Amino acid sequence: MLQANTARLSGVWKLGKLSEISGAQAREDLGRLSAQVMSIVARSARVGDGHIDSVPDDVVAKGKTAAEKFLLRWRGEADPRHVKAIDTYWVCTAEHGLNASTFTARIVASTGADCGAALSAAVGALSGPLHGGAPAYVKPMLDEVAASGDPERWVEEALASGKRIMGFGHRIYRAEDPRSRILKQTARELGSPQVAVAEELEQVALAALQKRSPDRVLATNVEYYSAVVLDVAEIPPPLAPAMFACSRVAGWSAHILEQKRTGKLFRPNARYVGPAPRSLELA
Ligand SMILES: CC(C)(COP(=O)(O)OP(=O)(O)OC[C@H]1O[C@@H](n2cnc3c(N)ncnc32)[C@H](O)[C@@H]1OP(=O)(O)O)[C@@H](O)C(=O)NCCC(=O)NCCS
Repeated sequence: MLQANTARLSGVWKLGKLSEISGAQAREDLGRLSAQVMSIVARSARVGDGHIDSVPDDVVAKGKTAAEKFLLRWRGEADPRHVKAIDTYWVCTAEHGLNASTFTARIVASTGADCGAALSAAVGALSGPLHGGAPAYVKPMLDEVAASGDPERWVEEALASGKRIMGFGHRIYRAEDPRSRILKQTARELGSPQVAVAEELEQVALAALQKRSPDRVLATNVEYYSAVVLDVAEIPPPLAPAMFACSRVAGWSAHILEQKRTGKLFRPNARYVGPAPRSLELA
């Protein structure tokens, strides 16, 4: 829904193509779209909670930070614990180099398409479970582990059945993701009811993954404790990828502006691995 609505804004606002607008205009378009991303998520979460009304703009305007305004737009009130949880999560996830969704944003921007097209494509890439979709699976996993009462057995069975343990492993990091440490600390400070089971599962899973592949370090990634922190703010797991998009839109925007400055089209080469040349003559 976020992906579709972000793309829709290109038409509604008649956004110009990146190849035909100035850098200042692109920056303005990205700023407007970024604010709308948060608003779309907050409004749709409000509808998801069963409300049919919207929170008046003057109530939202009282919020001092993006996280506070977001919660006011969604719930009409902003619990300071929830604000701190979302704020920390958003600061930790705003930018992270050339990950899959940022690369997607840059590819679309490189074609000269408009900012809405580039951001909506990035939202699509982010939604996958191997990227920004992971926290949506972490909380149900923690609930399952807590209910089982036996993390070791749970991990053993999960790995034996070929499952990936969500929130572990990273394409680049071969050590603990530094953001994970900050989020764990925040989860503790905010008195998360899930942090104990998360820490226990973390120890068990790290040991099991290490035993399974001694040569490959699979450590805790940002998504693991993100899920615990988002739970403090009572964010339903299916909303986790959209919450991620609200912050990562900042990183995408910076990359889109940089890509525009290069003026270069992405066109990777592919190595053909299909059948060798063959005759098409009928026998
Ligand atoms: C993030 C991720 C996609 C990186 O994948 P990757 O770069 O292919 O991973 P690596 O090269 O380090 O390791 C690949 C191997 O480790 C295993 N592996 C990687 N992450 C694993 C995990 N979380 N649980 C179990 N096994 C895992 C894979 O099954 C694969 O094993 P194989 O070679 O026997 O087939 C992967 O670690 C993953 O799926 N993690 C869970 C999802 C997640 O938390 N995503 C958020 C990322 S920030």
